[in-house]
Amino acid sequence: MEERSATYRWTISTLCALCLAAAISVSCQRQNEEPSQQPQSKAADSIFVPPDTSTIPKNATGDMIRYGRELLVNFPYYLGPKGTVGKYGGNGLGCQNCHLEAGTRPYGLNYFSAHARYPQYRAREGRILTLSERVNNCIERPLNGRPMPLDSKEMVAMVTYMQWLGKNVPVGGNVEGDRLKEITLLDRPADPIKGRVVYEKHCVRCHGDDGQGVLKEDGIAYVYPPLWGKLSYQPGSSMHRLIKSAQFIKYNMPNDIARWDKPVLTDEEAFDVAAYVNDDKLHERPQPPLDAEYPILKEKPVDYYWPPYVDGFTPEQHKYGPFKPIMEWRKKNGHPTGY
Ligand code: HEC
Ligand code: HEC
Repeated sequence: MEERSATYRWTISTLCALCLAAAISVSCQRQNEEPSQQPQSKAADSIFVPPDTSTIPKNATGDMIRYGRELLVNFPYYLGPKGTVGKYGGNGLGCQNCHLEAGTRPYGLNYFSAHARYPQYRAREGRILTLSERVNNCIERPLNGRPMPLDSKEMVAMVTYMQWLGKNVPVGGNVEGDRLKEITLLDRPADPIKGRVVYEKHCVRCHGDDGQGVLKEDGIAYVYPPLWGKLSYQPGSSMHRLIKSAQFIKYNMPNDIARWDKPVLTDEEAFDVAAYVNDDKLHERPQPPLDAEYPILKEKPVDYYWPPYVDGFTPEQHKYGPFKPIMEWRKKNGHPTGY
């Protein structure tokens, strides 16, 4: 976890605008990074602001950027099960259902640093992945689909948009507002029963009593996406992991009123509702192929649901927490403590 001052970051970004070309040739392989642990109160004006779409160049590159953005906003229409360009997504979810506002919402799983932090070593595969391969991970798991050809026009377009969006981000990424915001871990296991109460109060009006969301009239994409069931994300998707799920929910849901700087739920409510949504005893999901994951066992995230683990903690604790004792044990024994 790294902590850098805003001034330092500004200097870096200014410098990097100048030395980006040189820096690109530098190998940027690094350990599976986690969002940096930020203090809870960050001024809104330090949050990274991506370029405006009106500045997308009016040339062939610009056309690819616009096409990539369109695919990321309307994925199911082009590349979902009923896609007009290809059939890769296995359910009606689209990238934007999680990577909010075309991947531009602060702490809303945005793509600010996506291009800057790849290629990257990924513990799950135990090798270095390119950004395109990482995109395929999301097509295979949350979208329950099959990988797209890495050199397809559509894949190149999506990655070109991400590159354009993060063109002012220094190599390595981690700008303010990136990806997901830190949340305080609980000292008790997250509780699906309490979570159900939170769900009924704050989520049911959009995602429905059965968690199946609401399809658009065309039957292709969702107004409100499903949170569980055969049509939702696979177990083992990052959204199925309690800490990431709680981070996303706390700072983004309910979608119409919550934002990183005005969350509606407390940390406890976010963890409990994440536990309810992701409880595999209560809710079914598509069956993932569980082959050859985390070849280096000690790199498995603390909140990964599937055993075996290198530490002696139970699958139950890895699923619901408390996570701090697991992290402390791992730290003491020189293992990665990531989530
Ligand atoms: C159900 C939610 C969900 C859906 C749908 C989804 N993703 Fe993701 N995606 C995530 C989560 C969660 C992460 C992990 C973020 C983290 O590690 O902090 C992620 C990570 C990524 C990353 C790596 C970002 C980075 O900065 O390291 C990329 C790129 C990405 N997704 C692209 C896509 C694309 C393209 C689609 C559509 C084809 C898609 N995702 C659909 C939830 C989703
Ligand atoms: C006002 C309606 C609304 C409410 C209330 C709401 N959501 Fe959402 N939620 C959405 C929409 C819309 C999206 C997809 C965003 C998009 O496509 O732009 C979403 C996306 C999600 C996702 C990621 C996509 C997926 O299918 O998993 C999760 C998880 C989620 N919501 C959980 C919750 C939880 C938990 C609550 C209650 C605390 C909640 N939402 C309340 C509208 C809502």
